[in-house]
Amino acid sequence: MHSIINNIQQKFEEKFQERPLIIRAPGRVNLIGEHTDYNDGFVLPAAINKAIYLGMSARQDDRIELVAVDLNESYTGSVNNIEQNNQHWTLYILGVVDQLQKAGLKVGGFNCIFSGDIPLGAGLSSSAALECGVAFGLNELFSLELDKVHMVKIAQCAENEFVGVQCGIMDQFASMMGKKNFVIQLDCRSLDYSYNPIEMEGVDIVLFDSCVSHSLASSEYNTRRQQCEQGVQLIRQKYPEVKTLRDATQEMLDELVKDQDPVVYRRCRYVVQENRRLLEGCEDLRRGDVASFGQKMFATHDGLSKNYEVSCPELDFLIDCVKGHPDVLGARMMGGGFGGCTINLVRKEAIPELIRSVSQKYEAAMGKTPKVYVAETEAGVSVVQQQETAAAD
Ligand code: GLA
Repeated sequence: MHSIINNIQQKFEEKFQERPLIIRAPGRVNLIGEHTDYNDGFVLPAAINKAIYLGMSARQDDRIELVAVDLNESYTGSVNNIEQNNQHWTLYILGVVDQLQKAGLKVGGFNCIFSGDIPLGAGLSSSAALECGVAFGLNELFSLELDKVHMVKIAQCAENEFVGVQCGIMDQFASMMGKKNFVIQLDCRSLDYSYNPIEMEGVDIVLFDSCVSHSLASSEYNTRRQQCEQGVQLIRQKYPEVKTLRDATQEMLDELVKDQDPVVYRRCRYVVQENRRLLEGCEDLRRGDVASFGQKMFATHDGLSKNYEVSCPELDFLIDCVKGHPDVLGARMMGGGFGGCTINLVRKEAIPELIRSVSQKYEAAMGKTPKVYVAETEAGVSVVQQQETAAAD
């Protein structure tokens, strides 16, 4: 982590002859509650010890100078002309500027050099981290006085409107609001949230990265959203008080959706069940019953794979590898799906051996080695280093 920060600092000083403000914006895991956020449901994410670091400074002119160190690419533009372009990574940054401008806030020209250790396309929300880091940094540089939840919404809208992915609010919320040693129980309708202590004595969060990049995900993701809305429309014909799947019950689905559209039915049933699983799972954790919580994770995977159909053979294989293992309390695919990571709750002493055996099996079956991360919870977006203002003296 220090080498990333030092590298940014050095590159920044070489290019702009000043010391930057440095922001850390973490990725996230989600223990349970998948594809529920955009249905006004519940999620249980945490910010983790993998992050994007951004060196930033305000400019005297209207220019935007961006450098993506890990991609070895740069971009120059103007705050007076924010437009889409083919450098995909710039959209997460320009999208935030666009949203700030739409909110009537004044953003001047700025420099931004960033780098990090969140693996891209692994479902750990590197894009949300980038959006949140930029929102936080611009808020500091231009004294916009936005509170954190407001910045979360700006980051999400940037992704919805500028990048074109109709994501929910979970990833941005987790990156911005995370707290070390806590998971966030978030109600995505009211945005009420509580920090629940992670009390999993002797258990760590292990992520197996399938190394399947989830590039197909965005179109399928948007389709799932539409299917959920279709289900709601069918229910509303009889129960107009149902606004989203959050308000729906299994009985309503059986009565009004099952015969009309079996695919939409399976999608919606998964979501209704997942919301219930999350609430019951939070009770498990409060009681310290990690084993029971873990069983719910396996049930979530089953639903995501068979009914919501956002898994892939590689993710299913990784779950099959650990199912029934006495030291793996729970596991499931995590995030939007079609690739990325599985999240596993594993007894600490069993981790090295598990990594060895799963990697071997995965390599034999899939012809590639999974990457493995042991995730720790961390604080949300924060300033790592204030900008040195005395440079001109
Ligand atoms: C992606 C989206 C989130 C959420 C998850 C699925 O990570 O960005 O908003 O919908 O998928 O739970």
